[in-house]
Amino acid sequence: MKKYDVVIIGAGPGGYVAAIRLAQLGKKVAVIEKDQVGGVCLNVGCIPSKAMILASEFYQNISKAEQFGFTVKEVSIHADKLQAWKESVVKKLTGGIATLLKVHKIDSIKGEASFKARREIVVKNSAGEETLEFDNAIIATGSSPIIIPGFALDKKYIGTSTEGLAYEKIPKELCVIGGGYIGLEIGSLYAALGSKVTVVEAFASLLPGTDPDLVQVVARELRRRDVNVMLNTKALSWKEVKGKAEVTVEKKGEPQKILADKVLVAVGRSPNTKNMGLEMIGIQFDDKGFIKVNDKMQTQVEGIYAIGDCAGQPMLAHKASKEGLVAAGVIAGKKESYDVRAMPAVIFTTPEIATVGMDESQAKAAGIATKSGKFPFAASGKALATGETDGFVKIVSDAKTDLVLGVQIVGHDASNLIGEACLALEMGATSEDIARTVHPHPTLTESLMEAAEAVHGTAIHIFQQRL
Ligand code: NAI
Repeated sequence: MKKYDVVIIGAGPGGYVAAIRLAQLGKKVAVIEKDQVGGVCLNVGCIPSKAMILASEFYQNISKAEQFGFTVKEVSIHADKLQAWKESVVKKLTGGIATLLKVHKIDSIKGEASFKARREIVVKNSAGEETLEFDNAIIATGSSPIIIPGFALDKKYIGTSTEGLAYEKIPKELCVIGGGYIGLEIGSLYAALGSKVTVVEAFASLLPGTDPDLVQVVARELRRRDVNVMLNTKALSWKEVKGKAEVTVEKKGEPQKILADKVLVAVGRSPNTKNMGLEMIGIQFDDKGFIKVNDKMQTQVEGIYAIGDCAGQPMLAHKASKEGLVAAGVIAGKKESYDVRAMPAVIFTTPEIATVGMDESQAKAAGIATKSGKFPFAASGKALATGETDGFVKIVSDAKTDLVLGVQIVGHDASNLIGEACLALEMGATSEDIARTVHPHPTLTESLMEAAEAVHGTAIHIFQQRL
């Protein structure tokens, strides 16, 4: 029987990061993966969606080219070539990760893993069965899309994000069920490619839980793209009608029908914890089905750790990676714990939404008096020069101490801008620290500086009534 210091189940951004760090710390490691190295994120999630979003924005920008003096004629989309571009990106990245595992002398084992005993895992694959013995194990099995009743996947019309990123043709009509992260990222990408998109959202607003100030900027762009947003609407059922899916939804008790070539179900994800013998070895779960862990990523069973989507919200790749680093450090005997002040979240819609820390309502709920500063991109020279003036940066600070509590950005490249805000929060910066830091001109980063100035009523490029 092969024996390892650490066996990791799942080679997503949680599992593979933990594996590499453990190898760096001198441990003998095996990673077991039933699909492809890289997990959902690299193969059918974050990376392919960003490759497709970039392509769709490129297509949108062609239509804006007239304002720069270009005349563009006859632009057509070849869905097969778009898929080939996306696949090439995924292949490069997953190939790179496989090589990294190899050069770190990590055993990468293909197959389905389950616990046989507290120190034994059995791996099943086409070659048969193999049992591995270990001192420590990390469960990094991720999550799967939730399927709502009446919308079983049928491979032709009904799909999840995986199918949504691999359509052979750009759907003429796309019905998206769920106006959350996935629904809006993929919905807005197909709207940019010319699909007529309908978003069905059960809640009273898109992106429930996100600051409405940010959401309204994205909602405005969805309207420009002619996306039909149906709020307070529940998807009930569907049937095939003349080569299309006819989806029945219910709004205020009234049934309505939507015809679509494809239906994308994006109503959330649930942790992958079934059929792995977890209950048998004594792993405990919270009331939402996530594996219970402490701040060292330890489960209740000694030597067994859990990280990423299967170990709780938020279901974000960078949170999984961070937890992987913590688990690896703890296993290697280092003083490590999950002690994170700044956990950013990015929604790759057009424009992007990026947030870190508390927004005004969360600070209020926590009983903290705040001061906020807001700076619109319309007042930024760089934003004007690039024609991307939608949105703003908002900084929320503690009214007493001026400590930055949170930053919310909606706008072009918000995903990159939020990095500075993450550092500010982790380092305990005040809004004055950000305001006094020289930012390069002309860049969008100046908008963070101006928003920090605006907290004190001293932004230069907008008029503020003296406080
Ligand atoms: P989500 O939780 O973001 O949104 C699901 C939406 O579906 C909610 O707004 C909910 O009210 C709605 N809904 C639920 N049942 C419904 C029904 N029967 N009819 C109509 N609407 C219904 O979940 P989503 O978009 O599936 O994403 C799952 C998770 O994946 C996210 O929470 C996020 O953690 C992660 N993710 C992160 C991304 C990023 O970091 N950029 C991108 C994509 C996903």
